[in-house]
Amino acid sequence: MTTETGSLARLEAEALAALEAAADDAALDRWRAEWLGRQDGRVTVLLRGIREVAPEERAAYGAAVNALKQTLEERLEERRQALKRAELERLAREGAIDVTLPGRPQPLGRLHPITRTLRDCLDAFRAMGFRVAEGPEVEWDRYNFDAARIPEDHPARDMWDTIWVNTLIDGKRRMLLRTHTTPNQIRVMERTPQPPVRVVVPGKCYRQEATDATHEWMLTQIEGLAVDEGVRMSDLKGVLYEWARAMFGTDRRIIFHHSYFPFVEPGVEMAIDCFICRGDGRQCHTCHGTGWIEILGAGMVHPEIIDNAGYDSSRVTGFAFGIGVERVAMLRWGIEDIRHFYSNDLRFLGQF
Ligand code: FA5
Repeated sequence: MTTETGSLARLEAEALAALEAAADDAALDRWRAEWLGRQDGRVTVLLRGIREVAPEERAAYGAAVNALKQTLEERLEERRQALKRAELERLAREGAIDVTLPGRPQPLGRLHPITRTLRDCLDAFRAMGFRVAEGPEVEWDRYNFDAARIPEDHPARDMWDTIWVNTLIDGKRRMLLRTHTTPNQIRVMERTPQPPVRVVVPGKCYRQEATDATHEWMLTQIEGLAVDEGVRMSDLKGVLYEWARAMFGTDRRIIFHHSYFPFVEPGVEMAIDCFICRGDGRQCHTCHGTGWIEILGAGMVHPEIIDNAGYDSSRVTGFAFGIGVERVAMLRWGIEDIRHFYSNDLRFLGQF
C-alpha cells in the first residue's frame, strides 16, 4: 500500500508538472486526454486495474485513485481559468479592449438643402389649402410648349434652350426634359373636371444653360395653380407674400416686376433683396448689381388655357406661379453660388 501511495504521489507530481507546462487550450485538451481520457487516460487505466488489486486493499486503492482523479480534474479547471485570465490581461494590456477609448462617431445622413427647402415651401402652401401633385420629367412638347401657348415658331421657345430626347415621332423630336413645371398646369386641369383647383407641383427641370452664380442646367421648380370663381391678382400676391414670410421671415424686401410669359396675362416676376449687397450699387456677381434676386415667375392664367381645359373663362379665373427652389435656398442661407448645390462637395453639404 505504501508503495502504491508512493507511486500515485509520483504520478500526481508528473501530471501536475505537465499541466503547468500546458500553455493553451489545445495543450490542456491533450493533457486531459492523456490523464483523464475515458478510454485509455492513465488515471482511467489505474481505476480499471482495481480488479487486479488484492481484495483487502481494493477499498483503499480505489479511494486513493479516485482522490487523484478528483485532484487532477480540479487542477485542470484551475489551470483553464488561469490561462483565460492571463489572456484577458494580455489583451487589456495591449489595448485590444480599451473601454476608456471614445466611441467611433457614426456618420449621420441628412437631407440635401434643396430637399429641405422644397419640403418647407410645400408645407407653407399646404397650410394655405394647396394640395401637392407630381408630373413627368420627360415631357411631350405639346404640354411643355404648345398647350402653354408657346407654338413652334414662337420666340419664347428660344428662352429655354431645350434638351430633347432623340426619338423621332412622325419624323420629329416630340419628347424633352421639361424646361419648367408649367405643363402640370394643363395636366392638373385635364384631370380635374371642374374648378376649384388649388395645387402645387414640385419637380426637376432641365435647360441647356451656360451656368453662372444663379443659373444651373438642372433646377427645381414648384408650380402653383389656383382656379376658381373670383380669383384675382391680389389673391396671387397675398399667397406669395404669405409664403415668402414663412420662408424668409418678415424683414426681407419683396418686389414684383412686370414680365412676360405666354401662358399668363398679366405676368410678373417676384424678386427678393440681394443678401450679399442689399442693392448698395457695388459690382455684385450674385445679383449682377441690381440689388434683387428673381425667384419666381407668376401671373393670371391666360383665358385661352382655361377654356382649353374645358372650363369657362367668363366664369372662372386663375393664378399661377413657378418658383425656383435653388434661388430660395440661396436667399435663405446666404449661398452666393448656385453651383455649390450640385457639386457634391461634402464640406458644403455637411453644413445643412
Ligand atoms: C418659368 O419657368 C415659368 N414657367 C414660371 C411661371 C409659372 C410663370 C407660372 C408664370 C406662371 P422662368 O424661366 O423665369 O419661368 O423660371 C422661373 C424661376 O425658376 C426663376 O424665377 C428662377 O428662380 C428659376 N430659374 C429659372 N432658370 C433657372 C436656372 N437656370 N437655374 C436656377 N434657377 C432658375
